[in-house]
Amino acid sequence: MSGISVIGLQWGDEAKGKLVDLLTKRSDIVVRYQGGANAGHTIVDGDTKYVVHHLPSGILNGDVKNVVSPGVVLNPGTLIEEIDAVTSQGIEIGDRLLLSERTHVVFPWHVAEDIAWNEEIKGEKNIGTTLRGIGPCYRDKVGRTSAIQLGDLYREDFQAKVDSICQLKKVLLSGFKCEVDPALLDPKKIFADYSAFASRLKPYVGDSTDFLLDSVEANQRILFEGAQGSLLDLDHGTYPFVTSSNSSGVGISAGSGIPSKWIDQVIGVAKCYSTRVGGGPFPTELTCETADHIRKLGNEYGTTTGRPRRCGWFDAVAVRYTSRLSGISGLAMMMLDVLSELDEIKICTAYELNGKTIRSFPSHADDLAKVKPIYETLPGWKSDVTSIQNFDELPDAAKNYVKTISEYVNIPIEVVSVGPDRKQTIPVGELLRNL
Ligand code: GDP
Ligand code: IMO
Ligand code: MG
Repeated sequence: MSGISVIGLQWGDEAKGKLVDLLTKRSDIVVRYQGGANAGHTIVDGDTKYVVHHLPSGILNGDVKNVVSPGVVLNPGTLIEEIDAVTSQGIEIGDRLLLSERTHVVFPWHVAEDIAWNEEIKGEKNIGTTLRGIGPCYRDKVGRTSAIQLGDLYREDFQAKVDSICQLKKVLLSGFKCEVDPALLDPKKIFADYSAFASRLKPYVGDSTDFLLDSVEANQRILFEGAQGSLLDLDHGTYPFVTSSNSSGVGISAGSGIPSKWIDQVIGVAKCYSTRVGGGPFPTELTCETADHIRKLGNEYGTTTGRPRRCGWFDAVAVRYTSRLSGISGLAMMMLDVLSELDEIKICTAYELNGKTIRSFPSHADDLAKVKPIYETLPGWKSDVTSIQNFDELPDAAKNYVKTISEYVNIPIEVVSVGPDRKQTIPVGELLRNL
């Protein structure tokens, strides 16, 4: 076996970081292949909490090499802060990090553009991005005329590129109503800052594509760490309320440079309920006390932005769709403990759209916004599950809840998580056994 992937099946924050960290024990290399500092992956070990944004979650395991491949958009200043943060927590990076010189670099003008568009589009149409400059950086990458890759930071024409792009961006941003912080468009400052970042990151920069191809050919075990979730996928998610990369399973090869023949297994991560942060349709969203209860118990506040996450019931129509799309072979069902105090729990099993019952996921966001969820209601278990280590020891109602989800989604359960700590994890299938 050479390649396993971990993919979020909802709108992000499914606890992918926790699962990736556990799987590093059976991996030689962990790869981040799309997204950027919009991601926030959390790993909890006893009293210590680690949060990573660009760094693969494998960085915490001293035996694992970590690769940031071409599909990522990289903010070097933020990455350096992350490196410093984990180093201060006792993690040694040494030669365990490789940053592809093909990654596209996020500059202050991208953040300025993200902020400007966010100001411009009010109300329901607002995407509610993380304001990390992700969309504008990918837009420039696709446009090709004003983009800078990590490798370009070490070339002679870097300063000239910064000067000319700053001029262009000033013109572009003058068309927006909002004031732009002049520091975000100051070519001298940007060149000086990014030259300093470039020297600091130099030891890590190289050709990740060649390295990864050599590694798979040498039977190294690769773990692909998805960021965001499949419903935020640019092509297959709830467009336009999505991120700017292919965050479902279909993005792995394009972003990493590894042909799909090397990817043997794709594990789907989902919460036992649903959350979404930012704008866009969310059929099972709750606005009652239950939402506040879930938010409180699940600590549902954005890891990257601190925004309260919208909360709702588990949506089996959506997760069946994303499991098929991402080629999922096993489910990791996270945050079961968060539902432990509820009398009853609902699963959305179908939608009603224009008077008809449908089981497929509508492709247009306006249709998704109109659907009414059809629920199956299950009894709660009303007991603490946070120290249970074995699936058979879970209360019957909890087992029944997880099994019902598995039946509706039509994918077997591999893992159940009952708390943030590494130890609060129940292996169900073979994936996490004998690690
Ligand atoms: P990611 O972006 O998918 O890696 O997920 P985040 O780190 O943004 O959000 C998941 C949050 O849930 C983190 O704070 C985790 O520490 C926490 N977490 C992970 N698994 C569980 C679980 O089973 N129960 C509870 N209560 N929290 C969990
Ligand atoms: P992880 O990897 C949850 C959401 C934003 C917004 C939309 C577009 O931690 O699961 P962007 O800044 O990417 O242009 O924002 O996508 N979003 C996430 N939501 N978890 C994430 O990452 C997210 N990354 C982006 O809230 O709705
Ligand atoms: Mg997150």
